[in-house]
Amino acid sequence: MKKRVAILISGRGSNMRALIEAAKAKDYPAEIVLVLSNVADAGGLDFARTHKIPTQVIEHKKFPSREIFDNAVNTALKAANAEIVALAGFMRLLSPRFAESWHGRMINIHPSLLPAYKGLHTHKRALEAGEKLHGATVHFVTAELDDGPVILQAKVPVLPGDNEDALASRVLEQEHKIYPEALRLVAEGKAKI
Ligand code: GAR
Repeated sequence: MKKRVAILISGRGSNMRALIEAAKAKDYPAEIVLVLSNVADAGGLDFARTHKIPTQVIEHKKFPSREIFDNAVNTALKAANAEIVALAGFMRLLSPRFAESWHGRMINIHPSLLPAYKGLHTHKRALEAGEKLHGATVHFVTAELDDGPVILQAKVPVLPGDNEDALASRVLEQEHKIYPEALRLVAEGKAKI
Protein backbone atom coordinates (compact mmCIF):
# COMPACT_ATOMS: atom_id res chain seq x y z
CA MET A 1 0.00 0.00 0.00
CA LYS A 2 1.32 3.41 -0.94
CA LYS A 3 1.61 5.90 1.91
CA ARG A 4 -0.74 8.86 1.65
CA VAL A 5 1.25 12.10 1.56
CA ALA A 6 0.12 15.71 1.91
CA ILE A 7 2.47 18.45 0.70
CA LEU A 8 2.40 21.89 2.30
CA ILE A 9 3.61 24.81 0.17
CA SER A 10 3.71 28.60 0.27
CA GLY A 11 5.06 29.49 -3.16
CA ARG A 12 6.57 28.29 -6.40
CA GLY A 13 6.42 24.62 -5.43
CA SER A 14 9.32 23.24 -7.42
CA ASN A 15 10.06 20.68 -4.70
CA MET A 16 6.38 19.77 -4.63
CA ARG A 17 6.65 19.20 -8.37
CA ALA A 18 9.63 16.90 -7.90
CA LEU A 19 7.62 14.85 -5.39
CA ILE A 20 4.56 14.70 -7.64
CA GLU A 21 6.69 13.58 -10.59
CA ALA A 22 8.45 10.92 -8.52
CA ALA A 23 5.15 9.61 -7.18
CA LYS A 24 3.94 8.87 -10.70
CA ALA A 25 6.21 5.83 -10.82
CA LYS A 26 4.33 2.60 -10.18
CA ASP A 27 6.90 1.35 -7.68
CA TYR A 28 7.11 4.61 -5.72
CA PRO A 29 5.91 3.89 -2.16
CA ALA A 30 3.94 7.13 -1.71
CA GLU A 31 1.04 8.91 -3.38
CA ILE A 32 0.29 12.62 -3.14
CA VAL A 33 -3.25 13.01 -1.86
CA LEU A 34 -3.31 16.72 -1.06
CA VAL A 35 -1.41 19.92 -1.78
CA LEU A 36 -2.21 22.54 0.83
CA SER A 37 -1.08 26.15 0.65
CA ASN A 38 -1.26 28.97 3.17
CA VAL A 39 -0.99 31.43 0.26
CA ALA A 40 -3.93 31.66 -2.17
CA ASP A 41 -1.86 32.45 -5.26
CA ALA A 42 1.06 30.10 -4.60
CA GLY A 43 2.45 29.13 -8.00
CA GLY A 44 2.61 25.45 -7.10
CA LEU A 45 -1.18 25.17 -6.81
CA ASP A 46 -1.67 25.37 -10.59
CA PHE A 47 0.73 22.52 -11.23
CA ALA A 48 -1.04 20.36 -8.65
CA ARG A 49 -4.45 21.16 -10.12
CA THR A 50 -3.21 20.32 -13.63
CA HIS A 51 -2.08 16.98 -12.27
CA LYS A 52 -5.50 16.34 -10.74
CA ILE A 53 -4.22 16.42 -7.20
CA PRO A 54 -6.69 17.82 -4.67
CA THR A 55 -5.63 21.26 -3.48
CA GLN A 56 -6.69 23.35 -0.56
CA VAL A 57 -5.91 26.90 0.49
CA ILE A 58 -5.92 27.80 4.17
CA GLU A 59 -4.73 31.37 4.51
CA HIS A 60 -2.94 31.94 7.79
CA LYS A 61 -3.82 35.62 7.78
CA LYS A 62 -7.49 34.77 8.19
CA PHE A 63 -6.84 33.10 11.55
CA PRO A 64 -6.49 34.87 14.88
CA SER A 65 -3.60 32.72 16.12
CA ARG A 66 -1.00 30.22 15.01
CA GLU A 67 -2.68 27.46 17.01
CA ILE A 68 -6.07 27.99 15.37
CA PHE A 69 -4.48 28.06 11.91
CA ASP A 70 -2.57 24.87 12.71
CA ASN A 71 -5.77 23.20 13.88
CA ALA A 72 -7.42 24.02 10.56
CA VAL A 73 -4.45 22.56 8.69
CA ASN A 74 -4.56 19.47 10.88
CA THR A 75 -8.27 19.00 10.18
CA ALA A 76 -7.57 19.16 6.43
CA LEU A 77 -4.74 16.64 6.72
CA LYS A 78 -6.94 14.27 8.70
CA ALA A 79 -9.81 14.67 6.21
CA ALA A 80 -7.42 13.65 3.42
CA ASN A 81 -6.28 10.65 5.51
CA ALA A 82 -2.71 11.83 5.17
CA GLU A 83 -0.12 9.58 6.77
CA ILE A 84 2.97 11.67 6.01
CA VAL A 85 3.32 15.44 5.70
CA ALA A 86 6.02 16.89 3.44
CA LEU A 87 6.80 20.58 3.87
CA ALA A 88 8.05 21.99 0.56
CA GLY A 89 8.83 25.66 0.82
CA PHE A 90 6.16 26.04 3.48
CA MET A 91 7.17 29.32 5.07
CA ARG A 92 5.12 29.27 8.29
CA LEU A 93 6.33 28.25 11.69
CA LEU A 94 4.26 25.40 13.07
CA SER A 95 3.24 25.25 16.71
CA PRO A 96 5.04 22.70 18.91
CA ARG A 97 1.76 20.90 19.44
CA PHE A 98 1.26 20.46 15.70
CA ALA A 99 4.87 19.30 15.23
CA GLU A 100 4.52 16.81 18.06
CA SER A 101 1.29 15.39 16.71
CA TRP A 102 3.10 14.54 13.44
CA HIS A 103 6.30 13.37 15.15
CA GLY A 104 8.19 11.01 12.87
CA ARG A 105 5.63 11.56 10.09
CA MET A 106 6.48 15.11 8.97
CA ILE A 107 9.53 16.02 6.89
CA ASN A 108 10.99 19.25 5.53
CA ILE A 109 13.55 20.37 2.99
CA HIS A 110 15.90 23.18 3.89
CA PRO A 111 18.47 24.87 1.63
CA SER A 112 21.60 24.41 3.73
CA LEU A 113 23.72 21.71 5.27
CA LEU A 114 21.94 21.66 8.62
CA PRO A 115 22.72 22.34 11.41
CA ALA A 116 24.46 25.19 9.54
CA TYR A 117 22.30 28.12 8.42
CA LYS A 118 18.90 27.50 9.91
CA GLY A 119 16.28 30.11 9.03
CA LEU A 120 16.13 32.43 6.03
CA HIS A 121 18.62 33.70 3.40
CA THR A 122 20.80 30.62 3.66
CA HIS A 123 22.62 31.15 0.34
CA LYS A 124 23.44 34.78 1.06
CA ARG A 125 24.76 33.92 4.51
CA ALA A 126 26.85 31.00 3.23
CA LEU A 127 28.39 33.25 0.55
CA GLU A 128 29.10 36.01 3.05
CA ALA A 129 30.81 33.52 5.37
CA GLY A 130 33.06 32.38 2.54
CA GLU A 131 31.87 28.76 2.69
CA LYS A 132 33.36 26.41 0.12
CA LEU A 133 30.63 23.85 0.66
CA HIS A 134 26.90 24.39 0.91
CA GLY A 135 23.88 22.22 0.17
CA ALA A 136 20.45 21.03 1.18
CA THR A 137 18.96 18.82 3.88
CA VAL A 138 15.80 16.77 4.24
CA HIS A 139 14.98 16.20 7.90
CA PHE A 140 12.20 15.13 10.21
CA VAL A 141 10.36 18.11 11.67
CA THR A 142 10.44 18.66 15.41
CA ALA A 143 9.19 21.55 17.50
CA GLU A 144 12.45 23.49 16.90
CA LEU A 145 12.84 25.43 13.64
CA ASP A 146 14.96 23.64 11.00
CA ASP A 147 15.99 21.04 13.52
CA GLY A 148 15.26 17.35 13.84
CA PRO A 149 17.00 14.20 12.61
CA VAL A 150 18.55 14.42 9.15
CA ILE A 151 17.33 11.96 6.51
CA LEU A 152 19.46 12.98 3.51
CA GLN A 153 21.84 15.77 2.60
CA ALA A 154 23.34 16.89 -0.69
CA LYS A 155 26.60 18.81 -0.73
CA VAL A 156 27.02 21.55 -3.30
CA PRO A 157 30.29 23.38 -3.99
CA VAL A 158 30.38 27.16 -3.77
CA LEU A 159 32.16 28.24 -6.95
CA PRO A 160 34.30 31.32 -7.52
CA GLY A 161 32.12 34.17 -8.73
CA ASP A 162 28.92 32.63 -7.35
CA ASN A 163 26.12 34.99 -6.49
CA GLU A 164 23.00 34.14 -4.51
CA ASP A 165 20.96 33.15 -7.58
CA ALA A 166 23.63 30.92 -9.08
CA LEU A 167 24.21 29.14 -5.80
CA ALA A 168 20.49 28.84 -5.08
CA SER A 169 19.80 27.21 -8.42
CA ARG A 170 22.70 24.76 -8.03
CA VAL A 171 21.33 23.81 -4.60
CA LEU A 172 17.75 23.60 -5.87
CA GLU A 173 18.77 21.07 -8.50
CA GLN A 174 20.00 18.83 -5.69
CA GLU A 175 16.90 19.47 -3.58
CA HIS A 176 14.82 18.03 -6.39
CA LYS A 177 16.89 14.85 -6.24
CA ILE A 178 17.11 14.26 -2.51
CA TYR A 179 13.52 15.14 -1.57
CA PRO A 180 11.87 12.33 -3.57
CA GLU A 181 14.57 9.94 -2.35
CA ALA A 182 14.08 10.95 1.29
CA LEU A 183 10.30 10.63 1.03
CA ARG A 184 10.81 7.17 -0.41
CA LEU A 185 12.93 6.18 2.61
CA VAL A 186 10.33 7.50 5.04
CA ALA A 187 7.40 5.90 3.20
CA GLU A 188 9.22 2.56 3.16
CA GLY A 189 9.96 2.85 6.85
CA LYS A 190 13.71 2.81 6.16
CA ALA A 191 14.20 6.22 7.72
CA LYS A 192 12.54 6.83 11.04
CA ILE A 193 13.06 8.74 14.26
C1 GAR B 1 13.42 25.68 -1.39
O1 GAR B 1 14.73 26.08 -1.69
C2 GAR B 1 13.34 25.13 0.01
O2 GAR B 1 14.46 24.40 0.37
C3 GAR B 1 13.22 26.39 0.83
O3 GAR B 1 12.37 27.22 0.09
C4 GAR B 1 12.49 26.91 -1.29
C5 GAR B 1 11.12 26.61 -1.84
O4 GAR B 1 11.18 26.44 -3.22
N1 GAR B 1 12.69 26.11 2.14
C6 GAR B 1 13.03 26.76 3.24
O5 GAR B 1 13.78 27.71 3.24
C7 GAR B 1 12.39 26.26 4.51
N2 GAR B 1 13.05 26.74 5.66
P1 GAR B 1 10.03 25.64 -3.98
O6 GAR B 1 8.71 26.30 -3.58
O7 GAR B 1 10.33 25.85 -5.42
O8 GAR B 1 10.10 24.20 -3.55
